[in-house]
Amino acid sequence: MAPLSFAVLRLPLLLALAVVIGVLTRDATALTRHDFPEGFVFGAGSSAFQVEGAAAEDGRKPCVWDTFNKAGYSFDGSTADVSADQYHHYKEDVKLMREMGLDAYRFSIAWTRLIPDGRGDINPKGLEYYNNLINELILHGIQPHATIYHFDLPQILQDEYGGLLSPRFVEDYTAFAEACFKHFGDRVKHWVTVNEPNIETIGGYDNGSQPPRRCSLPFGKNCTGGNSSTEPYIAAHHLLLAHASAVSLYRDKYQANQGGQVGITLLGWWHEPATNLSQDAAAATRMNDFHIGWFMHPLVYGDYPPVMRSRVGDRLPRLSAEESAKVRGSFDFVGFNHYIVMRIRSAETDSGWKPRDYYVDAAVQDPLNQITEGKIESHPWALGKLLNHLKVKYENPPVIIHENGAAEVPDPPGAIVYDDEFRSEFLQMYLQVLYMSTRNGSDVRGYFVWSLLDVFEFLGGYRLRFGLCGVDMNAAGRTRYLRSSARWYAGFLHGGELRPPASRRPDDMSYAADE
Ligand SMILES: *[C@@H]1O[C@H](CO)[C@@H](O)[C@H](O)[C@H]1NC(C)=O
Ligand SMILES: *[C@@H]1O[C@H](CO)[C@@H](O)[C@H](O)[C@H]1NC(C)=O
Ligand SMILES: *[C@@H]1O[C@H](CO)[C@@H](O)[C@H](O)[C@H]1NC(C)=O
Ligand SMILES: *[C@@H]1O[C@H](CO)[C@@H](O)[C@H](O)[C@H]1NC(C)=O
Ligand SMILES: *[C@@H]1O[C@H](CO)[C@@H](O)[C@H](O)[C@H]1NC(C)=O
Repeated sequence: MAPLSFAVLRLPLLLALAVVIGVLTRDATALTRHDFPEGFVFGAGSSAFQVEGAAAEDGRKPCVWDTFNKAGYSFDGSTADVSADQYHHYKEDVKLMREMGLDAYRFSIAWTRLIPDGRGDINPKGLEYYNNLINELILHGIQPHATIYHFDLPQILQDEYGGLLSPRFVEDYTAFAEACFKHFGDRVKHWVTVNEPNIETIGGYDNGSQPPRRCSLPFGKNCTGGNSSTEPYIAAHHLLLAHASAVSLYRDKYQANQGGQVGITLLGWWHEPATNLSQDAAAATRMNDFHIGWFMHPLVYGDYPPVMRSRVGDRLPRLSAEESAKVRGSFDFVGFNHYIVMRIRSAETDSGWKPRDYYVDAAVQDPLNQITEGKIESHPWALGKLLNHLKVKYENPPVIIHENGAAEVPDPPGAIVYDDEFRSEFLQMYLQVLYMSTRNGSDVRGYFVWSLLDVFEFLGGYRLRFGLCGVDMNAAGRTRYLRSSARWYAGFLHGGELRPPASRRPDDMSYAADE
């Protein structure tokens, strides 16, 4: 029988045990979810391309990632054609969420499922699917947090006008966003316009490792076209304008009636100087400005960071006065996806590290190598530093941590792994830091584990597993099963205590390095 039904049946007993053990071993300093600010939302997430499968079903047409995978550029030749098949298993998945006690589910809406040709007609089957998913969530008391655009640009718009490189993207994106507000906004109260524009543009247009594989030497190899010195900035500019356009539309036309909130979600790498040399500290600051400030500075102050303007010059597009006014303040919250710490050296001090035009003279480790080796350098204190940075530098915006989680590489690949104690420990350490940040004045409003289920991990294929719940990708029915981290999270969400491993407990506010 499916491990799933077994696991689900056992959950209430385990929860009862967890509560009893929690009471018996309660210590006065241990935190529970009730110590977080009023209304704090705990959830888990996914994205449409990664989790849905049903790639060619019911009228869905290809996005740029389908094309990329089919052309053989994916990590191990895998595709997301079936993936975790949430399209056919959403009811089962919502039931899992309910059992775990999630407040919210973060998912995205596949552009080519809702509007297969990128613009124009809505696909009734796509509309039906998202209505079903949203209704099922609400029926089970789970808030839907919807991302409108999560990397899955319609291939047809890429072919027609070069996708993100054209200002026409802004108009088509805004129409897609409006369809989402109009059809789902009566029930969806948390919208993200764009996911990780600060990395889609680097992968797609700087080093060309992701669709649409544009780059130029010496910054990327094997591209068929592109200009790594200019195109990342142009693509990002259009994503920023598209975001602002959707927000202003939502505010003008929908927000008063629907009463929701809208924001954008950035990747939040934390760049830390590799040494005490002042030039490395300056390089790390600059990296944070290029990576985070690229979007945060215009969102808060209406223009790109001065350091980008001075170093990139005319290659950095300009915001007109009207655009600047539209961009500035165009969020009710900002989402951050946080995983990695990068140790930064100024290129002048270590010629062995690869300098990138994009980051000018700051050099950086190659995160892809680390990810595919399963050796991501991550430290809970970095989340604290990121949140403090946002507080100090960007006027303490409301923040939702939209992704944070730990990967593992099962051996052999795809092996079923039930015991992921390391992941429970990982989550507890980050939640403890998150709590301390809220106590130190950061306005954090929610936390979503990446990911609810094992999914297609873009450049990591199916080799990397992030799920609280495992998925047997070799079984025709894509059997789900609870890992021990899912049970731990369920216990916490039902009132259990945070008990980060004592040796790694960041027990003062200094966020001392945890190794
Ligand atoms: C470029 O292509 C070569 C030969 O196919 C391959 O070995 C290399 O990994 C590719 N480089 C990148 C950055 O994709
Ligand atoms: C990229 O564009 C810049 C500015 O137009 C130009 O100076 C540079 O030569 C271009 N690089 C490539 C590789 O085409
Ligand atoms: C930086 O200096 C401090 C204090 O002198 C020292 O404890 C620390 O190890 C140094 N860090 C690095 C990365 O060299
Ligand atoms: C290209 O950029 C992406 C996004 O920053 C990064 O994950 C990847 O490691 C880079 N790849 C290469 C080959 O530099
Ligand atoms: C707490 O906030 C203050 C003021 O922003 C800051 O100086 C300090 O570094 C913060 N502490 C931590 C641990 O982030």
